[in-house]
Amino acid sequence: MAQKLAAGNWKMNGTEASLAEIDAMIAAYPEPGCGVLICPPATLLERMSRRIGRGPIATGAQDCHMNAKGAHTGDISAEMIRDAGGAYVILGHSERRTDHGETNEIVNAKTQAAIGAGLVAVVCVGETLDERDAGETLDLVGSQLAGSIPDGVTGDNLVVAYEPVWAIGTGRIPTMEQIIEVHDFMRARLVERFGAETGNAVSLLYGGSVKPSNAAEIFAVENVDGALVGGASLKAADFGAIIDALQNS
Ligand code: PGA
Repeated sequence: MAQKLAAGNWKMNGTEASLAEIDAMIAAYPEPGCGVLICPPATLLERMSRRIGRGPIATGAQDCHMNAKGAHTGDISAEMIRDAGGAYVILGHSERRTDHGETNEIVNAKTQAAIGAGLVAVVCVGETLDERDAGETLDLVGSQLAGSIPDGVTGDNLVVAYEPVWAIGTGRIPTMEQIIEVHDFMRARLVERFGAETGNAVSLLYGGSVKPSNAAEIFAVENVDGALVGGASLKAADFGAIIDALQNS
């Protein structure tokens, strides 16, 4: 069985003052009934990790370099994320694929680096609106899964997030039928490639405009094990309502 996971992606948002939201989340969820993860900007990762300590919320980063160290100005390695207290890293987010030209091959190399350093990789896939309109969604998601995920992963070191690009930050979400179709497809592909035990143990998150008002409906979908949440993860009250919906699903 895949673990239920509510994951927050703070993107390029947050300074010292934002850590008050973490205090509020720890107070509200001392023992959450699902995994809870926050991926703040790299500048806050160590501070947030220390603040949480051995608490109930895991932390992670939003990207890592594929190499362990060296002359890569501005980048951070998977080892550095571990060193800062992070346990997860989001890889291949569509904003990285678009803004930084990240290909499946690059995401694959980063995922290997992350897993090698003992992190859990949250690999993101998802189609643009043009690709959906052209009927290419499953082909695209299938090739992103095949290309971005290295061999040898397990349910303990891989999470996959389906994030339709057109649903991110737009307030639009797919129909439940569309989410069911893609999540069932992803589960089948993972089982086919890695076997039933591993394929069924990988948590499949939906991401893109998840809010307190739509979370319960999305979490009722069989192969949705949680969410990757952007805007609604910045405030403890909103993210808390999403955690509640996942705990109760
Ligand atoms: P959103 O972002 O929840 O703000 O739509 C989701 C994401 O990009 O991970």
